[in-house]
Amino acid sequence: MTAQLDMNQTEATKKNNKKLFIKTYGCQMNVYDSQRMAEVLSPVGYELSETIDDADMVIMNTCHIREKASEKVYSEIGRIRKHQEKKAADGGRMLLAVAGCVAQAEGEEIMSRAPEVDMVFGPQTYHRLPEMVAKASRAAGQKILDTDFPPEDKFDHLPDETKSEGVTAFLTIQEGCDKFCTFCVVPYTRGAESSRNVTSIVAEAKRLVASGAREITLLGQNVNAFHGQGRDGSEWGLGRLVRHLADKVDGLDRIRYTTSHPRDMDDDLIAAHGELPHLMPYLHLPVQSGADNMLAAMNRKHTAKEYMELVEKLFKARPDLALSSDFIVGFPGETKQDHADTIRLVSEVGFGAGAFSFKYSERPGTPAAASEMQVAEEVKDERLAGLQQLLNAQQQAFNESMAGKTIPVLFEKPGRENGQMMGRSPYLQPVHIQGPESLVGQIIDCKIDHVKGHSLFGEAVEPFVENEQERAIA
Ligand code: SAH
Ligand code: SF4
Ligand code: F3S
Repeated sequence: MTAQLDMNQTEATKKNNKKLFIKTYGCQMNVYDSQRMAEVLSPVGYELSETIDDADMVIMNTCHIREKASEKVYSEIGRIRKHQEKKAADGGRMLLAVAGCVAQAEGEEIMSRAPEVDMVFGPQTYHRLPEMVAKASRAAGQKILDTDFPPEDKFDHLPDETKSEGVTAFLTIQEGCDKFCTFCVVPYTRGAESSRNVTSIVAEAKRLVASGAREITLLGQNVNAFHGQGRDGSEWGLGRLVRHLADKVDGLDRIRYTTSHPRDMDDDLIAAHGELPHLMPYLHLPVQSGADNMLAAMNRKHTAKEYMELVEKLFKARPDLALSSDFIVGFPGETKQDHADTIRLVSEVGFGAGAFSFKYSERPGTPAAASEMQVAEEVKDERLAGLQQLLNAQQQAFNESMAGKTIPVLFEKPGRENGQMMGRSPYLQPVHIQGPESLVGQIIDCKIDHVKGHSLFGEAVEPFVENEQERAIA
């Protein structure tokens, strides 16, 4: 009888379960947000699905950072419309939501240009999803646009159940930006800077570790501007938070944070790099340009020399550090000499950990877009190619310097070849060795034998737990 009842209940829940498909664009914070959206929608019957086929709701979590990124939205909506039509022909309905930074920036336009979209909401309102969905699914035709910057903090309204999907996890600790670099949309799409409180961060970190994470990347648009309320009521900086997490969250072995602004690297955080083995010797520290006039026009609030001095301090604290960065070529007014200054800075600093470089893209509403000194597309192409060649060579040389070294590797998943496992070095390089699947979640010293492309290959040089049973005992 009970069994029968249970079965009926399971059947009933299955019927209520609707399929949710989320497509994520842009930065790590969007990846984090997408996961949280799924958690918000789970209690109202939506279950994440790997494919769009037959989905009851599709969320596009969008990025507005460059023109190409936001253009994708409209072409993708066109493709999803076909799935909607198919679902409607079968007597169903596929709700379509546009979330994220394009939604925040162009909400009204999306609503008027794309009638197939049912809901548009920004990064700060997705905790309201259950209400929005209830309204949108009630009567056909009821459209939702929610791009407020609400007075309530979404983190106070999100479910306390974030689980890690693997051995590495993201955790947003700070959001928004008050820096207003003249090329950037983020201060408009994510809103004013705000930090979460330490108690809720620690609780979430513990949940992530309890569900399998051994590495957490703390996220923020300006993560090192973190100034959250500490347990004692005072404001804590990122250095203090990182020390606290390392101390209080058992089983958390690796901590990373991204993205940092050079202006906010304070001495305490730099010192933490020298003291905490948990903090990985890898830092993404965007500089954008090596020319002072460009840095000033970009409103980055530091000079090339100040950046180099900061890097020197960091290496003093942590000599085995490797840097990554972001660069923009062809910012309005950039001359040949300015670009040469960037190349010089890259040569002097060395970005072994893989840097990102972009052609300047005019973004509506940002000050630089109004400049009359836009750089020609062909010039941008040429500068980008030159810079990328240098950055690739630096990364390749850094990867090759790993050959013969023994480094700790956190294993994530099986590799492509039979019996192969894939993990990451402290510098985020993929490392492949032959080994059992029980390696997932273990940090093992591996000797690197050779390097191919961006991947390192080697073998374990310390014993590891061979199977799940042994692991349970260990
Ligand atoms: N908060 C981070 C950057 C977020 S955007 C920081 O301050 O460093 C990620 C990168 O995209 C930026 O570092 C910049 O290099 C690039 N970017 C931002 N706006 C851009 C634009 N309009 N054109 C080209 N690249 C841009
Ligand atoms: Fe954009 Fe500058 Fe803020 Fe980074 S610091 S998010 S580049 S405005
Ligand atoms: Fe893109 Fe928004 Fe992130 S514009 S880079 S998704 S903060």
